[in-house]
Amino acid sequence: MRRKLDKIRVLVIGGAGYIGSHTVKLLQEHGARVTILDNFSTGKKFLVQSNDLVEGDLGDSRLTDGLFSKTSYDAVMHFAAFSIVGESVQNPLKYYRNNVGKTAVLIESMLKYGVKRFVFSSTAAVYGEPEVTPITEEHPLRPKNPYGRSKVMVENMLSDVSAAAGMEYVALRYFNAAGADPSASIGESHEPETHLIPIILQAAGGRREVVKLFGTDYPTPDGTCIRDYIHVNDLADAHILALEALLDGKGSDVYNLGCGKGYSVREVIDMARKVTGKEIRVLEEKRREGDPAVLVASSDKIKKDLGWKPDYDNLETIIETAWRWHGKVR
Ligand code: UFG
Repeated sequence: MRRKLDKIRVLVIGGAGYIGSHTVKLLQEHGARVTILDNFSTGKKFLVQSNDLVEGDLGDSRLTDGLFSKTSYDAVMHFAAFSIVGESVQNPLKYYRNNVGKTAVLIESMLKYGVKRFVFSSTAAVYGEPEVTPITEEHPLRPKNPYGRSKVMVENMLSDVSAAAGMEYVALRYFNAAGADPSASIGESHEPETHLIPIILQAAGGRREVVKLFGTDYPTPDGTCIRDYIHVNDLADAHILALEALLDGKGSDVYNLGCGKGYSVREVIDMARKVTGKEIRVLEEKRREGDPAVLVASSDKIKKDLGWKPDYDNLETIIETAWRWHGKVR
């Protein structure tokens, strides 16, 4: 049975982003009262789902001290990270400063005001090149880039702060987030766009000439990379469950989030052709640096511990919802 979140107050940092906005919408559907803190560096005004919006930076301790002193928040959810792997290699300090340094400032501010529940957006990039598939949470953490390392650093920081100061956290390691709310009122919107499904749908919608296919010589059945695509609303649902677990005093934990089924880049393109009825031109290119051949999650732990179950368990529905959103020219 789901606990109602009626009197629960949540500060959602990065609530104007892709995954943050879908989670804000669902939190409110569960009755929670949500304040969004977003600096709009990558967030979008048209994704804001709460009337309670504070425009500002998570690293601004005067601002967060003010928020925590004024309102008694039951929990913080933190989505406000930079997340482009290639950019993190070019500009690692941007990632360490924002994703790690500012998160430390935020947690200090939380502790100062006794806010001790934290749901953190982590990533499959913490694992690096997998040794076994599907990947469980016990898999060694060997990130291959500054983005993944920044997320491992925060996970370590949370574990240390949890031991020292009694903070309780859930870190959710997302695999490939995709799709959009079926209402098509919110969806994925990045500039520049680097993710496969939105790029394919831009091509389907005539807003891009061609999809560049990065690498056709991987050790996979069709030579292209295999990923585990998870619908953004199923990710949002996992945040609700994580919050409920923290409210129930279940303690800190770390969970993978994927559907447990891999699709190759070619399979994703073929499925998008089927869903959209468009041709979608493809240009085969060499490999993109740093891409593991196969990334597929075991999400058994969150299913067992928190009762999570994906509602959008197939690629066709995921792409259909994304297409409904991208059809509205963003
Ligand atoms: N791809 C293409 N052409 C494109 C874009 C992507 O062929 O134009 C390929 C990539 O090479 C990769 C697959 O499509 O094989 C998926 O690429 P995405 O960029 O959509 O996603 P990634 O798997 O690279 O990255 C995602 C998240 C990261 C996270 C990572 C975890 O976006 O934030 O999963 O490994 F770090």
